[in-house]
Amino acid sequence: MSDDLRRDDVANVDGSDESSEPSSQGNTRRGFFEIASIVLGAIVGVGPALIGLVAFLDPLRGRRTKPKLYEEGAGNGTSSLVRVASMEALSLGEPQRFLVIDDQIDAWNFTPDEPVGAVYIEKLTPSTVRVFNTTCPHAGCSVECNGTAYECPCHSSSFNLNGTKSVSGSGRANPSPRDMDALDYEVRDGEIWVDFKNFYTGRDEKKAKA
Ligand code: FES
Repeated sequence: MSDDLRRDDVANVDGSDESSEPSSQGNTRRGFFEIASIVLGAIVGVGPALIGLVAFLDPLRGRRTKPKLYEEGAGNGTSSLVRVASMEALSLGEPQRFLVIDDQIDAWNFTPDEPVGAVYIEKLTPSTVRVFNTTCPHAGCSVECNGTAYECPCHSSSFNLNGTKSVSGSGRANPSPRDMDALDYEVRDGEIWVDFKNFYTGRDEKKAKA
């Protein structure tokens, strides 16, 4: 009896060893495929998302260049000067208002020929002018010219034709914190090119916006 039991024990032990080998290999294979599918899933799912994120953020690396087509256009991609008017279009001593059209560039977009502001240009001699941004330094309204002075319709700031502050038309103190914002310019072949800038309003100092 004890011999039979011993034989059964040996048979059971042998039997369990043989039957557990294929099961162990199966578990190993299953584990491998599970890990492989997780890795593949991560590559397939995360890869495109990363590529999309990189493409989305790419403009923030500071690429602010104009398309090649516009590099040598009127807006002139290498200069801040903008062609605004010709000398011929002006009469001596009569300020005239002109829209300033320039190309707009931000991190994502290039928009050619957009209105960016306006200027008054007064012809002083056949070859010289003075140029002012039309924006009132007080709070940003558009200043008007009556031929002898500049006046702001919003809070009665007023300026002489040379851009300096004058007593306001209503007799109250001039609310503008500074003179009108003069702009630099160049005359090239009879064309007036303006270094156009917009400035912060409500400040004593003249500070250009970026
Ligand atoms: S905005 Fe011109 S006076 Fe106030």
